[in-house]
Amino acid sequence: MQKIFFTIVSNQVVADKTYRLELGCSQDIAIKPGQFVNIAIDGKYLRRPISVSDATNRSLLLYYKVVGEGTKLMSEMNPGQQLEILTELGTGFDSAKCRNSALLVGGGLGTAPLYMLCKELLSQGKKVTVVLGFNKASEVILEEEYKALGAELLIATMDGSVGVKGFTTDAINQYNPEFDFFYTCGPMPMMRALCAALPTSGEASLEERMGCGAGYCYGCTIQTTKGPKRVCADGPVFDKEDLIW
Ligand SMILES: Cc1cc2nc3c(=O)[nH]c(=O)nc-3n(C[C@H](O)[C@H](O)[C@H](O)COP(=O)(O)OP(=O)(O)OC[C@H]3O[C@@H](n4cnc5c(N)ncnc54)[C@H](O)[C@@H]3O)c2cc1C
Ligand code: FES
Repeated sequence: MQKIFFTIVSNQVVADKTYRLELGCSQDIAIKPGQFVNIAIDGKYLRRPISVSDATNRSLLLYYKVVGEGTKLMSEMNPGQQLEILTELGTGFDSAKCRNSALLVGGGLGTAPLYMLCKELLSQGKKVTVVLGFNKASEVILEEEYKALGAELLIATMDGSVGVKGFTTDAINQYNPEFDFFYTCGPMPMMRALCAALPTSGEASLEERMGCGAGYCYGCTIQTTKGPKRVCADGPVFDKEDLIW
């Protein structure tokens, strides 16, 4: 974990209440797919955890949705402004668990952290099918970015305004992609349904309300088949087999 001051490069609305935040810093960072950062916001006691969508050794790309006061304040920030951020938090996805072909399933903002994982899997020469689920067209993010990577992309929307009408599981049933391991991030009901329906092993990235975000307060503890685990430090990514829904 490092505490670093980042400078906002851009902070733009890209979908319904959803922002793309690009940050730069002047010291080296090493982010793995599925890790998150914890952002200090003036006037807020607790930091706000946000998953990393993409990163280099000197930059971060985040996507966030305005849901309350903290994210509203973030949406009002401008290029050039500085943010104090704890980086390299959590245990991310393990791309080595996929042998040849991966299925990535993201719901809503959960589509963002799978992007860096998708890049990593493709760079290892693996076949990747990405299934993204949203409520409606105005919520869709990252469609062009995933296409540009060269992954097979399926989109499902609840109202049918883009792609398959229905859940991500409907798109998977319709197209029947080939995969030996799956990775998912998104709403709990979606991930629970996937873990029950998909025949292979997989990893799911969970969200919990967090205190310290760095493993000290135990405020984010969940029960797993391997005993109590901290979502911020032992996760947020867990094996399907370890989760008790
Ligand atoms: C590991 C992790 C990664 C995350 N990644 C992202 C991301 O990439 N993009 C993104 O937009 N959001 C992400 N979140 C959720 C994000 O942290 C919260 O939406 C944010 O902290 C809300 O702050 P706020 O002050 O705007 O809202 P608050 O005023 O604190 O809360 C507003 C509403 O949001 C809900 N909420 C707040 N925090 C959480 C949470 N941690 N999980 C679920 N619901 C919450 C509250 O129940 C309430 O209904 C992540 C959370 C975790 C734990
Ligand atoms: S939030 Fe403090 S241990 Fe996870």
